[in-house]
Amino acid sequence: MNDNSEEFLEPQLKARINELFRLSAPPQVTLELMRLLQDERTTPEQLQKLVEQDPALSAKVISLGNSSYYGLRAPVNTIARAIVIIGFRELQFLALGLGLAESFDLRQAPKDFDGQALWLHSLSVAWVANEAAHLSGLVVPGEAMLAGLLHNIGQIVLVTKFPDQYRLLMKAVASGQTYLEAEASLGFGHEMLGSVLARNWAMPQYLQDVIHGHHRPPSNAEAGPIHMSLINLALELVNRTEYRLEYERPPSDESAYWQSWPKLNRREKEKLLEKAIQTLPQMVPAWLWIMAESSPSRAG
Ligand SMILES: [Fe+2]
Repeated sequence: MNDNSEEFLEPQLKARINELFRLSAPPQVTLELMRLLQDERTTPEQLQKLVEQDPALSAKVISLGNSSYYGLRAPVNTIARAIVIIGFRELQFLALGLGLAESFDLRQAPKDFDGQALWLHSLSVAWVANEAAHLSGLVVPGEAMLAGLLHNIGQIVLVTKFPDQYRLLMKAVASGQTYLEAEASLGFGHEMLGSVLARNWAMPQYLQDVIHGHHRPPSNAEAGPIHMSLINLALELVNRTEYRLEYERPPSDESAYWQSWPKLNRREKEKLLEKAIQTLPQMVPAWLWIMAESSPSRAG
């Protein structure tokens, strides 16, 4: 079985990956936002200050506050007002999403790749992880959200920076392999790419773990790393909604969801699933708006 180790890569490919990540540092505002999200004491005022430091981000946040999605008659002119309109928790997703979208322009991906599905999937997993963290009180919600949002960052890297390898993968899928089998036989996959990026960007260990191993959750959810088990719960839940990523994770029977992460009981999981099915479609218009607005060619 593929262990996603980069040890087995051709030296040339390995050098290219390292070079790419050395050059593509994340925007400073994205790094700072990640830091704020991991601190439970973060206030709306701190988020406001951060957003205001970045003129391009400020313009987008204000423009989102004014978008028809929120249906307001009075114009939104300040970041503080936009935070009230959009909501603190929601804005954290949006600002981070904007930063990431600027680092990796999904329009560079091969035409047959559904970037929108990947983006909506990642945001859905982040939303569920955030809710589950609030419910359980066992994981910092901002950390849970980041882990959800970033778990598949390697997919974005793969399709935007390594389109040739992506085409080889799709060829293997067309000939009957599952997507993960194709990655294993090619010896080049999104968990490995994501984990090299996470290390080069000095992400915290829990993020590196989730990015590197989200398709291989610990068999004992009680004993494994807690972020990993929480993300597995979120992935199993999202797998039961329209925001599943079917090529990566075929629909499983519902027992996988009930058995995931025993820190939440069955009743709590039922309620969370209901809430997700009701709420996620309401968030999608704002998420789609970000995708349309935040590409490097339109930034700034
Ligand atoms: Fe994945």
